[in-house]
Amino acid sequence: MVVIIMGVSGAGKTTVGRTLAAELGWRFIDADDLHPRSNVMKMAAGAPLTDEDRAPWLRKLRDEVARALAQGEDVVMAFSGLKQAYRTLLEELDPAHVRWVFLHAPHEVLARRMSQRQGHFMPASLLESQMAAMELPSRALSVDVTPPPADIVKHIRDELGV
Ligand SMILES: Nc1ncnc2c1ncn2[C@@H]1O[C@H](COP(=O)(O)OP(=O)(O)OP(=O)(O)O)[C@@H](O)[C@H]1O
Ligand SMILES: [Mg+2]
Repeated sequence: MVVIIMGVSGAGKTTVGRTLAAELGWRFIDADDLHPRSNVMKMAAGAPLTDEDRAPWLRKLRDEVARALAQGEDVVMAFSGLKQAYRTLLEELDPAHVRWVFLHAPHEVLARRMSQRQGHFMPASLLESQMAAMELPSRALSVDVTPPPADIVKHIRDELGV
């Protein structure tokens, strides 16, 4: 199974995804780590990515998910998944084995967390463009991330039965 933890920047995808994967003993993939360097530099400069920027990155993500599914490997992936078209690229590989978890919280909670975060390429200013771009998912477990990470992970495990 591939569990994809989605949401805007600062929603806690890396924090929650890594903890969930560690508890389950599953491999963790952070989609941000698969960006070409040019995309990272662009985002670090505060510029939102275009669909053209995202295309090679999405192909890489799709290859990773396809390989895990083909090998029957269990994976947790952190992936913003802002648009349904991006999500469809991964989901259509095997809808029964790709599960979505949508992390969300009030804007002020996310803005505060991003402004306090150290050593990450994503500036807090990109939160607005990400929130504007986010197409809400219809087939996701929706989780409010205001509580502490451990509570969120427990809730996800209970709901997904993993
Ligand atoms: N449930 C939580 N409670 C308190 N702080 C949290 C929680 N989840 C994450 N954080 C903190 O909020 C910040 C953002 O979390 P994280 O880096 O995991 O978000 P992200 O969704 O991976 O963002 P990005 O898309 O920019 O990589 C981090 O400093 C993290 O420690
Ligand atoms: Mg992250």
